[in-house]
Amino acid sequence: MIGGAGVLNTNSMVIVGAQWGDEGKGKVIDYLSSEADCVSRFQGGDNAGHTVVYGANVFKLHHVPSGILNPGTLCLLGNGMVINPLVLVRELDDLEKRGIDTSSLRISNKAHLIMAYHQALDEAGEKMLGENKIGTTGRGIGPAYADKVLRRGIRAVELTDFNRFKDHLTDILPLQNRILKEVYSSDAYRLEELLELYRPALERLGPLVTDTDLLLYNQFAEGKKVLFEGAQGALLDIDHGTYPFVTSSSTVSAAASSGTGIGPGYVNRVLGVLKAYTTRVGSGPFPSEDKEEAGDQLRQRGNEFGTTTGRPRRCGWFDAVIAKYASRINGLTGLAVTKLDVLSGMEIVNLAVAYRCRGEVTDNFPVSIDDLDHCEPVYESFPGWDEDISMARSLEDLPEAARNFVNAIEDTVGVGVDLVSVGPDRSQTIICPDSQVSAWIKD
Ligand code: GDP
Ligand code: IMO
Ligand code: MG
Repeated sequence: MIGGAGVLNTNSMVIVGAQWGDEGKGKVIDYLSSEADCVSRFQGGDNAGHTVVYGANVFKLHHVPSGILNPGTLCLLGNGMVINPLVLVRELDDLEKRGIDTSSLRISNKAHLIMAYHQALDEAGEKMLGENKIGTTGRGIGPAYADKVLRRGIRAVELTDFNRFKDHLTDILPLQNRILKEVYSSDAYRLEELLELYRPALERLGPLVTDTDLLLYNQFAEGKKVLFEGAQGALLDIDHGTYPFVTSSSTVSAAASSGTGIGPGYVNRVLGVLKAYTTRVGSGPFPSEDKEEAGDQLRQRGNEFGTTTGRPRRCGWFDAVIAKYASRINGLTGLAVTKLDVLSGMEIVNLAVAYRCRGEVTDNFPVSIDDLDHCEPVYESFPGWDEDISMARSLEDLPEAARNFVNAIEDTVGVGVDLVSVGPDRSQTIICPDSQVSAWIKD
């Protein structure tokens, strides 16, 4: 019996980014999805770029859950997402061309569509902001979520009926064109051209649109194992992130519930993914950013260039202040620490334990970006290690200095480390014994 009161005996785990995105969520989710029956995205859109590597295969996923590479895993695009139909068709076609069966993908009928005018509005808005731009991915995410909240979005259910899609677009386009022309002096869209552009996408995606919340409910009813795949990261959350330098969705674990249509009681584990250092793409505060040699080294060794836009990522040391904050607002029950191998060869490894902000030392993450701009990290330094650790498959295989650093992360954040990643490949993964992840795998 599910749906009743009390704690539900489900086997689910939400996986969220606990920094500014690109923490290696795709890798961790792909690894765990071999054990999952279902993987569901719950927010964001194709601003996400999740990389999965096995052997010589590299996949960069934008809408499609990282579980797609495991045959038989049901993959859902939840109602909390914004979906660009044209990009999704390309993504599915590319996967199919590479021999990946995408027939298990379903799209929530309540998800909202990112339309061509949303992308144009995103780009025009950024241009108008000039130096103060957010540094968005240019995918139309903000305007699509804005239209959803303004109650003038087009939902995925309209992909199932060309005439209804046409009616909605006919109603909404004049306003969008007026904004584009009169506010931004940009080009307007022609209705007929847009309809022809979208017609093949409706044919391709319409049959995949369904009640994904019901599918998910049934997964739980049948005792299946479910993963929720977060995109972006805690510090990019619309409420809790470094506003306004954030994305336009709720990226924290609670959104897994509203963004898929299941009650919060169905979620019983929350895994936060963090790099062993910190990165950020786009503008906004980043207290532990290192603009000197260490930052450059991390970028080169970690190949820190954006999956979606190719932009160089800003790099710095691990920041336990944001990690603790991310842990609190997500209710993290475990950590996955990725890219530990990138730190090999660093003479010392720093970890920010607090900020010095206008003369005061605090380990509480400040809300105001003006305060954040005045924060300097207070570092604790650890001896580095030279060994290549990419072949390590257990904690015992790691050099003592690397183990100490993982323990320091665990101690300062106050949450147990469940998984350590030592390379991009599926195989380069350490599961900590007696952790929630090992319990989840065994369950
Ligand atoms: P996501 O958005 O959180 O899924 O992360 P991205 O895929 O955007 O960025 C993470 C990058 O690091 C990708 O290129 C991954 O292949 C790579 N990666 C993930 N885990 C590791 C790791 O443990 N070590 C190394 N060297 N690379 C990793
Ligand atoms: P994954 O899922 C890193 C950042 C953008 C910009 C801000 C707003 O791969 O971790 P948007 O296009 O969402 O309006 O941009 O958010 N951003 C990401 N940064 N990883 C991502 O996704 C991101 N998605 C958005 O760089 O600063
Ligand atoms: Mg990414």
